[in-house]
Parts: sequence; structure tokens; C-alpha cells
Amino acid sequence: MRQESPVHFDEQRERWDLFRYDDVNRVLTDHDSFTSDRSRMGTASASDTEDGGSILQTMISVDPPDHNRLRGFVNERFQPGTLRDYQPRIEELTGTLLDQIDGTTFDFVDEFAVPLPVIIIAELLGIPAERRDQFKEWSDALIARPDDRSTTTVKQVRERRQQAQQEMGRYFAELLAERQNGTGDDLITLAATTDELTREEQIGFCMLLLLAGNITTTNLLTNALWCFEEHGITDAIRTGKIDRKQAIEEVLRYRSPIQSLDRIAVEDVELSGQRIQAGDVITGWLGAANRDPERFDAPEAFRPERSPNRHIAFGTGVHYCLGAPLARIEADVAFEMLLDRFETIEADLTDLQPIHSLYGLESLICHYE
Ligand code: HEM
Repeated sequence: MRQESPVHFDEQRERWDLFRYDDVNRVLTDHDSFTSDRSRMGTASASDTEDGGSILQTMISVDPPDHNRLRGFVNERFQPGTLRDYQPRIEELTGTLLDQIDGTTFDFVDEFAVPLPVIIIAELLGIPAERRDQFKEWSDALIARPDDRSTTTVKQVRERRQQAQQEMGRYFAELLAERQNGTGDDLITLAATTDELTREEQIGFCMLLLLAGNITTTNLLTNALWCFEEHGITDAIRTGKIDRKQAIEEVLRYRSPIQSLDRIAVEDVELSGQRIQAGDVITGWLGAANRDPERFDAPEAFRPERSPNRHIAFGTGVHYCLGAPLARIEADVAFEMLLDRFETIEADLTDLQPIHSLYGLESLICHYE
């Protein structure tokens, strides 16, 4: 597609698909011509939003200048320098999770890659530990899609999603109210004490943080172990022969946890010779852009020492992932500690089941010693 029809109109989904790095990059960086505001989407994409729940205004769904206000108050907290101070705590939480793995076989997804990001973001937000299981249930319900393999209907998924959204909204509203005069350094207190946001926006912020960072980081961790096993480099990473951080960047490029992002054209524009009209919905395929031969040498090859590696797995432009530095630290600490803890670890790559939303696996069984 990248070669034959790089800017392609999908009649069924009634939207444009972009596959080239330069086109995806252009759409993500030109926020004047391509908006993130989903309320401006036409009927084509209504199915994404018509679950009856009100869509909370968050940084990810607005354009500048409002975007600056919704992101500006928290930006500093996610800078690599600020997060470095928090790294020992990430190590401690990762160690506790590893302590709970016993026997000689475990499911890497269920027992490690899923809980780790939830525990860390819950801690950063300042959620009491006893509510974390509930947290996971809510976030699963909010991202659930009807599944061909199960009997869940679209209606049931929507109802559960609405219910989770309401329960979570009420829960955050309570915590925000309790902490509005607080002095703690957790993110709920930060949101509750800023003058920049309305209470609704504060709730939206808390929910966004919970959703944006969980399944994405789970997929990064899972895809990393999958790639390392597939290419037989787990030991080379353990011994430092291959740089861990660089290998993780290549996983982000090669198996990007988020494969696509949507935007809406706000004016008529031309993209690689195609005329796009105001109101048209555009899907930029990060996964395809990250394998564009115009941008990457041997893009279909997994090269753990690829450098430079200017992938756009975290997006680009004003909406560039707020949590990218956190996700990088989590993945780095996770593999450093996991490979240190287990002398050998072998992932079973037979019969892998991809997850339905995003790019990751349902489970990844590992044998270790
Ligand atoms: C935005 C990917 C982890 C919070 C984004 C975007 C991408 C992305 C592609 C751009 C969305 C757009 O342009 O519409 C990822 C990946 C992750 C990850 C691949 C893990 C490997 C995290 C974590 C957090 C987080 C751990 C928070 C704790 C956010 C937020 C935004 C965002 C708040 C919205 C930023 C804005 O609109 O200004 N992420 N993310 N992400 N991400 Fe992440």
C-alpha cells in the first residue's frame, strides 16, 4: 500500500489511510490543518464516540491554544530529569512484582507486563494500593471492543464502558475534592490544585493518564520480549553486548504498540497528490511509517542497534506522548531487573494470539530458571 496507494481512501470505513512517513509526519505536526478534536469528526467516525458517554475534554482531543493549557500544568512532571528522581521507586515496585512470580513458568503478559504500568501510574496519581485491581477493571472496560471470539455484544461493551466511565469519574471527583487544598506531590493533588483546569477537565486528565499509559506500555514490554526471543538476543541484552535502551527503541519502531492515530482535515488540502476535503477523517499508520524504506534502511529487519532510529511510535508534534520518558524508564528498568533476576528466560512463541486493539499479545508464556 505504501508504494501503490500511499494516500488511500477506504470506501468502507469512509476515511483516508496514510502509510508514508512524510505524510503521517505532516498530518501530526500540522495541527492547524488537521485537528485532534473528535467532536469535529463527521459521521464516518461516529462509531468511535457514540457510546453514549460524554467525551471528557482532555489534552489529547484538543488543539492549541487550549492544548497548551491542558498539558502545560503537568509537562514538567514527565520530563526525563524529574522522572529520574522517581526511578528508585520504579525499581522497588518492579522488584516487588518480580518477587511474586514463582514456579518455573509464568505468563509474562498477565503477571508482569499488565500489572507493572498500572501499579506505577496508580502510584504517581496517588491512588491507594487497595483500589488498583478496580483500576485495572475500569481501564479494561474503557478500552474494550466487541470481540469476535466471545459472545459480548456491541451493546454490552458500550454499557460496561459507560458504567466504568461513570464509576471512575465519581471516584476521581471524590479524590480531587479531598485533595483540593492538599500539599502532596501526587498527580491528583497537582490537578486538584491547579487554577488552569475545571473540575471536569481534572477528571478527564486523571482518566486519560490511566488509559494512555497502561495497555501501551504493556504492549511495549510484551513486544520487546517477543522480539528479543525471536531474534535470539535476550542473553546479549543481559550481558550488555547489545544496548538495552537502543533495542527497546527498535521494538518501538518494529512493533509499534499504537499502530494508528486519527485526525480530521479542517480545510481542503492536498496530500501526495490526493485532494482531501475539510471534514474528512484521516488515519495515519504509525506502524507503516515506521517501516518506510524512504526513512529507514532495511525497514523490515529488526536491528537492535539501529542508529539513528527516528521512529514515531510516540507520535510527533504538540501531542507527542507525554508519558514517553516514563514508558522508556519502565521498559529499561523492567528488562534490567527481569534479566538480572532470571538466569535464563525463554518465551514460547508458538500459537501467539494478538490482542484486538493496538499491537500486542494476549499472553506470552515464559520458562525461566
Ligand atoms: C499521547 C504512544 C505510554 C500518556 C500519545 C501518542 C502516542 C502515544 C502515539 C500521540 C497521540 C496523538 O497524537 O493523538 C504511547 C506509547 C506508549 C505510551 C507507544 C508506551 C510504550 C504513555 C504513558 C503515559 C502516556 C506511560 C502516561 C503515564 C500520554 C498522554 C498523551 C499521549 C497524556 C497525550 C499527549 C497530548 O495530547 O499532548 N502516546 N504512549 N503515554 N500519551 Fe502516550
